[in-house]
Formats: sequence, C-alpha cells, structure tokens
Amino acid sequence: MMLDVRDIHTYYGLSHVLFGLSLKVNQGEVVSLLGRNGVGKTTTLKSIIGITQPKSGQIYFKGQDIAKTPTKRMVKLGISFVPDDRRIFADLSVRENLEIADGIKTGVWNLAKVHELFPVLKRTENRRGGNLSGGEQQMLSIARALLGNPELLILDEPTEGLAPLIVKELEEQIIQLRSTGISILLAEQNLKSALKLADRCYVLERGQVRFEGTVDELAENEEVRSKYLLV
Ligand SMILES: Nc1ncnc2c1ncn2[C@@H]1O[C@H](COP(=O)(O)OP(=O)(O)OP(=O)(O)O)[C@@H](O)[C@H]1O
Ligand SMILES: [Mg+2]
Repeated sequence: MMLDVRDIHTYYGLSHVLFGLSLKVNQGEVVSLLGRNGVGKTTTLKSIIGITQPKSGQIYFKGQDIAKTPTKRMVKLGISFVPDDRRIFADLSVRENLEIADGIKTGVWNLAKVHELFPVLKRTENRRGGNLSGGEQQMLSIARALLGNPELLILDEPTEGLAPLIVKELEEQIIQLRSTGISILLAEQNLKSALKLADRCYVLERGQVRFEGTVDELAENEEVRSKYLLV
C-alpha cells in the first residue's frame, strides 16, 4: 500500500471540514477524488502533505504514519504535490525553473526525461515562466514535481481552466506517466477526465466519502453521479 488515509478530521480554525475521511492508494494506482466545489478535495490533499494537518486520524505512507510530518519533508519521503495554483517562478526561465527542482532527489526523472514527456518545456526553455500559457505552466509545475522523483504524485485539479485541446494533451501525458508505475492521487471536478485517467475514485460531499469504487462502477452508477457530481 502506498497511501492509507484513515478517519481524518481536519479543521480551518473552528470550522470542521473533513469528517472521518478515509482513502487508499495502492502502488502504481491512479486514484481520483471527485466532488463539487467546496466539498473538501483540496483540504484532503493538503491534509496528506501536512499543510493543514488533521486534528485526528492517521495517514500512512508506505506504512509510516506521516500525519504529523512537516510539509517540507514530503519530497524527501517520496511525495510531490502540485497545487491548484500551479506554483512556478514567473521571473525565472523555464529551464531555471526546472534546474532548481533538479537533483533534489535522484531517480529516474531528470531534465532529459521531463523534456521527453513535455517537449514544449524544451522548446520554451529560455522563456520566462510567467509568459507561458496556463497549460504550459501546468506542465512545468508537474515537471518540477517529477524532478523530486516521487513515488506518489499528488495533483490538484490539473486540467482546471485549460482549453479542451490542452486538456487532451495533458491527459495523454498523465496516461504516459501512469505507465511508468508511479502512484497518482488527483482531485478532479471533471468527471470525464477522471474516468479516463483513474483506476479508482472517491466521491466526496461535505468532507465525507459518499462513494468509492472503480471508474467503471462510477460510470454505471447514475444515482451517485447525479446526486454528487452533475450540476
Ligand atoms: N483557508 C481556509 N479557511 C477557511 N475555510 C476554508 C479554507 N480553505 C477552504 N475552506 C473551506 O473548506 C471547505 C472545503 O474546501 P476545499 O477547498 O477543500 O474544497 P474543494 O473540494 O477543493 O473545492 P474546489 O472544487 O472549489 O477546489 C469549503 O467549505 C471551504 O470554504
Ligand atoms: Mg480544490
């Protein structure tokens, strides 16, 4: 088991947001967190990487409880996180953005490998990060995360706000990534994307898991889709 989140409760101040949430990611699996706006997808991801530490519950990463581990240790442990606001250095070149992340942890991912997955980052290597399109910034952000050579990659709504053509490209890249055997946990609002990318999914509502199953089971479950997903 790569990740085993057990019964976590997370708060923002006095506001209780996650209510006994549990989920699992097996080795080499792509797992999607689904649910409408504000149900707690981002909070779940932030709880796992320690930005909003849960008040109770356990988070096991490869058997070790990391619920109290500071965020800054996550890359070293083997978890990389790509937030929904795609944090890159706008004033640095694309190449510099990658060089900063390169070599933090050695493994299969290096500059040449990320250029292979995202050829656009090679073509634009001298451009300022801030001058890239939204899709290119997302790719840069994922490439930076990969240079940390994670065993578990966590993505928060990677396709959000991108043009359909770019979404398709990014989906294909994530499918390629998946074939490398990395484990991926991703939050998605886009049901179609999730069905295409994931092996299993969890559907959240008000900080609780309302459905868990394979993507095929979700695709067949009209009740869950209409109750918790479709607008
Ligand atoms: N920093 C914060 N302080 C207080 N409340 C917050 C904070 N961030 C999120 N919340 C609240 O926590 C709940 C869950 O938010 P969260 O961002 O995890 O949802 P989400 O499923 O990621 O939504 P979205 O689809 O909009 O990204 C919401 O009610 C939100 O208003
Ligand atoms: Mg979110």
